[in-house]
Amino acid sequence: MSRSVVVVVLCAGKGTRMKSPRPKVLHRLAGRSMIHHVLAVAGALEPTRTVVVLAPDMADVAAEVDRGPLPATIVFQEPQLGTGHALLVARDQLPAGGDVLVLYGDTPLLTAATLRGLLEARRAAEAAVAVLGMRPPDAAGYGRLAFEGGELAAIVEERHADDRLKQDGLCNAGIMAFDAARLAPLLDALELRTPKNEYYLTDAVEHARARAWPCVVLEMPWLEALGINSQAQLAEAESVLQDRLRQAAMAAGATLVGPETVFLAADTELEAGVEIGPYVVFGPGVRVAQGARILPFSHLEGVTIGEGAQIGPFARFRPHSEIGAGAKVGNFVEVKNARLEAGAKANHLSYIGDTRVGAKANIGAGTITCNYDGFGKHWTEIGAGAFIGSNTALIAPVTIGEGAVIGAGSTIDRDVPPGSLSIARGRQTDIPDGAARLRARRLAKT
Ligand code: UD1
Ligand code: CA
Repeated sequence: MSRSVVVVVLCAGKGTRMKSPRPKVLHRLAGRSMIHHVLAVAGALEPTRTVVVLAPDMADVAAEVDRGPLPATIVFQEPQLGTGHALLVARDQLPAGGDVLVLYGDTPLLTAATLRGLLEARRAAEAAVAVLGMRPPDAAGYGRLAFEGGELAAIVEERHADDRLKQDGLCNAGIMAFDAARLAPLLDALELRTPKNEYYLTDAVEHARARAWPCVVLEMPWLEALGINSQAQLAEAESVLQDRLRQAAMAAGATLVGPETVFLAADTELEAGVEIGPYVVFGPGVRVAQGARILPFSHLEGVTIGEGAQIGPFARFRPHSEIGAGAKVGNFVEVKNARLEAGAKANHLSYIGDTRVGAKANIGAGTITCNYDGFGKHWTEIGAGAFIGSNTALIAPVTIGEGAVIGAGSTIDRDVPPGSLSIARGRQTDIPDGAARLRARRLAKT
């Protein structure tokens, strides 16, 4: 028996209940689109092929699929005549043997373990169809599983179910595995159903039973099958996912002081021994090496934090940044497309963009790299061991040589040679007794 799997992800439904101009499956959970979550779990099964069914007006979803975690073939469904019809339009892509696993693009919390269990259950029973069943707290809208003599006999959509089945029936999660070798006649047997004028994929169970082909059910935790149909369900799924990510981070040895206040991205990598304070938010693309501490209220995206670095509180990182071992980035510092090498420090109130800061350089409070001139972005180089005095403006492109010292309040628009002491600010004038004379003048006027 072949163990190969072809995964078909159905996404052509319009999801109008989200009331958002964005297609449903492009909404993000833990920094990753819903469709990428589904493709990622499909990828864990190492499918021989993955097919995504879209409506023709979903070019943006097609582009997101192309950027996804595994290669997928896109098939367009027009018009959208139901879940059965969606699989019918993907027919040319279906294999002659092995399993066909049908997933929904709007069911992003599934785990690979549950899907493997479903495939195992189908194979073990040599079933034509295996479905995932669940008992959600609110069953409204779900199809119900009908049994005869202890065997799955049909999936009855809610609108066709009698009261007893509606009350007691196990719900259909929607995820189905088919024996590819027996799928074609089941698809051929599907008929348009009133009143919605749809081909129900779920009718395949009845057609299998009519041929005396066994069908099996695997009961699953209902939360994994949570389908996203509204903004509220999106938020509910986010909270489930955050909880999983926090638990996984702590199980892997990260210290989360207030886990319920920390928001992780699906791809956040925290090494054992990192410490994350309360109210820290991770966008996509963050890696934190061991011994680093992220203090409260920091926001990180697209950055690698080196061993033993100390970040925050109130630090902000934007993409393409790298913080070296033992470096420090303190409160109200924004870092974008910048590299701070080992031991560099920017402790207060700075903007460091399009910049390399050499090892052990010190960036004083209020330093700004002026990287944008209204037309283009320019680069700043700060050599190792340089000292940038407070409130310095570095007008890029500009290079500060190794070990140079820049006087506080300087506006630097020319390269500074290594080892130079450079000061670029108005000179101070001191007028002896000037204060008293000034006051006298002002008082005389009143
Ligand atoms: C479906 C099941 C129901 C199950 C529920 C679980 C059917 C007939 N019913 O109902 O038993 O309890 O899921 O959530 O299958 N889609 C297409 N093309 C279409 C129609 C739908 O690609 O023409 C896609 C949708 O984008 C979605 C998925 O199929 O990802 C399910 O469609 P949906 O309309 O939500 O099905 P339900 O009515 O919820
Ligand atoms: Ca649905």
